[in-house]
Amino acid sequence: MRIGLLTSGGDAPGMNAAIRTIVVTGQSEGHEVVGIPNGYIGLLEGKSRSLDMTDVQGISSFGGTILGTARSDKFREADGYKLALQRLGELKLDGLIVVGGNGSLTGAHQLATAEICQVIGVPASIDNDIGHCGLSIGVDTAVNTIVEACDRISDTARSHRRAFLVEVMGRQCGFLAMRAGVAAEADVILYGEEDRDEASIILRIRKVLQNSFAPGSSKQRVLIVKSESVDIPTYKLVRRVKEHLTVDAPGVELRTTILGHVVRGGRPSAMDRVIAQRLAYAATLACGHGATDVMMSWQAPDDYGQETPDPYVRVVPLADMIDETAKMMNGTSAILKKRIKLLRKVEDILGM
Ligand code: F6P
Repeated sequence: MRIGLLTSGGDAPGMNAAIRTIVVTGQSEGHEVVGIPNGYIGLLEGKSRSLDMTDVQGISSFGGTILGTARSDKFREADGYKLALQRLGELKLDGLIVVGGNGSLTGAHQLATAEICQVIGVPASIDNDIGHCGLSIGVDTAVNTIVEACDRISDTARSHRRAFLVEVMGRQCGFLAMRAGVAAEADVILYGEEDRDEASIILRIRKVLQNSFAPGSSKQRVLIVKSESVDIPTYKLVRRVKEHLTVDAPGVELRTTILGHVVRGGRPSAMDRVIAQRLAYAATLACGHGATDVMMSWQAPDDYGQETPDPYVRVVPLADMIDETAKMMNGTSAILKKRIKLLRKVEDILGM
């Protein structure tokens, strides 16, 4: 088979481990693997190059993606989609593996429905915003990066007895803030799915500041972890809280750190490499076995009833992923509701 491979959307640590595994597995199965640079933009331009072992040696430890990535507006337009189908034919691909986030995998589904070649998705996004996927490639590294940053900030915050608000990535999904916030012993965790209005968020922060810095309190620092998915701009929120600071916590300073793209870069954790390798291995084999319009998903083993060679790897139709992602975005996803309920329990226990 001639299998095309592209990485698309925001890069995620672990994408390179996935690329390497697809090339290595593809070769051992007798396939030719061709890399398409810069995501769907490269596909629209009809660009590709054969990849072999020498191209991928040692890349698993690198952050980002050696193939390059992009978000393509043109691909989403009718003309762009038609051109992408034309290019798939011209490249004479039997299969295409798309490594990317929910937007990229939605594009993969659209390509698959044209049945020009098999199309398989491998979920990769630091946001963990892909339906029916327990952990996507990149999440573990991003959580570790946030926790390390919060630990460093806590060192200096405790030394000065200060409060810090740390904003973390996650455009429409608060998972990074939730998981890293708990791990970093945050005092407040703010995420978009919670649906709190501005006034109640401000009140909550003020209450924590009042209690933490009240006379007699031994607390040395307050850490507020805010997801990018919360509607209120961080600087506005901090400004509004600061208006009351001299009364709420006299002498205490509230500082802000926006971690931004620091969260997305860096060496992938061992866990992200393992997830990437196992999903990519399964995707390449599935391609050889004729699968299409599906993604390989990383899920904790349960009684799902599906017999798979790898207990953590499930085969999920891309259409189901799209449905569940929409539910995650509109708040009706059962898994999201469970996640929020669990976090609320943790917040109750910790008195957040
Ligand atoms: O890849 C996901 C993500 O990192 C989001 O958390 C963030 O909102 C977005 O990408 C930023 O994208 P860009 O780098 O294109 O500005």
